[in-house]
Amino acid sequence: MNIAEKAFCRVFQFGFKVAIPLLPYRNPQVLNSVDQIPKILKEKGLSRPLLVTDASIRGFGITKHLEELLEDGDFQLAVFDSVQSNPTVQIIEAARQLYLEKNCDCLIGFGGGSSMDTAKAVGALIARPDASLEQLGGILRIWKRTPFTIAIPTTAGTGSETTVAAVVVDEESGHKYALMDFPLIPDVAVLDPETTRSLPPRITAGTGMDTLAHAVEAYIGRSTTKLTRREALRCVRLVFANLEKAVKNGNNMRARRNMLRASYLGGAAFTVSYVGYAHAVSHSLSGRYNLPHGETTAILLPYVLEAYGSCIYPQLKALAVAAGVAKLDTEEAEAAQAFIRAVWKLNESIGIGTKIPQIKKKDIPGLAGMAAAEGNPVYPVPVLMDARALERFYYDISEDGGTRV
Ligand SMILES: [Fe+2]
Repeated sequence: MNIAEKAFCRVFQFGFKVAIPLLPYRNPQVLNSVDQIPKILKEKGLSRPLLVTDASIRGFGITKHLEELLEDGDFQLAVFDSVQSNPTVQIIEAARQLYLEKNCDCLIGFGGGSSMDTAKAVGALIARPDASLEQLGGILRIWKRTPFTIAIPTTAGTGSETTVAAVVVDEESGHKYALMDFPLIPDVAVLDPETTRSLPPRITAGTGMDTLAHAVEAYIGRSTTKLTRREALRCVRLVFANLEKAVKNGNNMRARRNMLRASYLGGAAFTVSYVGYAHAVSHSLSGRYNLPHGETTAILLPYVLEAYGSCIYPQLKALAVAAGVAKLDTEEAEAAQAFIRAVWKLNESIGIGTKIPQIKKKDIPGLAGMAAAEGNPVYPVPVLMDARALERFYYDISEDGGTRV
């Protein structure tokens, strides 16, 4: 990246950092159980919710209790259960159609990031019927109030229950992009560990590492605040203390509850302080090859941390202390390396690999271009990289390219 491009990115990011106290960030109201939902809806005068979920979550019976509560409470419930991982424009449009047909007045996103993001994207389309999803992609393009939205994560997690973002895939181009605006922050987040009890270990592992990546990328970026630094450190502490337990024993409700809390904190940190290149590269890969976002990001995270070099050692030391792998008097470089090693080790202990064999070499320049377009100038990363520089990460994680650090 040349000097003029770097200067543009840094000025853009500085502008957003200065504006943080002026922007309408808000935290969703947090509920600890789905049992509290009917009361909240009644208080708001809402009676026709659209439940947005996926067929397997519904098939496992995870939404059944809420559906019964709402039906018994005289709500006119409509259910859209066709969400797929990496929600496409077509699926979001279909959900919007159902919302309009059933004359719904609020949204409940119940599931992983895809279900919550679909509900949020439907909200954006309802608020802005004049615009397409593509036109609403990017920063601050929604402006108007979206319908009252409740987010119920069944993974811990994407953090979507607290963020300004909804990620969408254009099925024709494979391009994955995000809608980012304040009306997308859900009004209510329900952190009920019972909803994550039946989550398979592999999904618990991938989504848990996604949570870690949110906190780490927010913390090492250049737009942190005192609050987001604190949220990120608390998130990291919780992930290192609970993720392996939640993966190895899905019925450990204490670990599940702590991971839901971690997911919420990671989401709160990154929605103000952004993510970085691990996410930008991961989005390009999961859009093209339909890979799970959490696992892909988890594989990339240690490579990206290593590539930033010594300029992030002070932040990595603080993260290492939070993770319990260094002490306050540990030498900075040693602590930083200990944190990167701890991320590798955590990945390994929960069954996440170090490579993505699906990557085709011929796709790499295009994918790196998408990652650069997502990351620059928005993400306040510690070291700026253009598409050419980002290509290294695709080679690092290709089956036959790069070596584990
Ligand atoms: Fe993520």
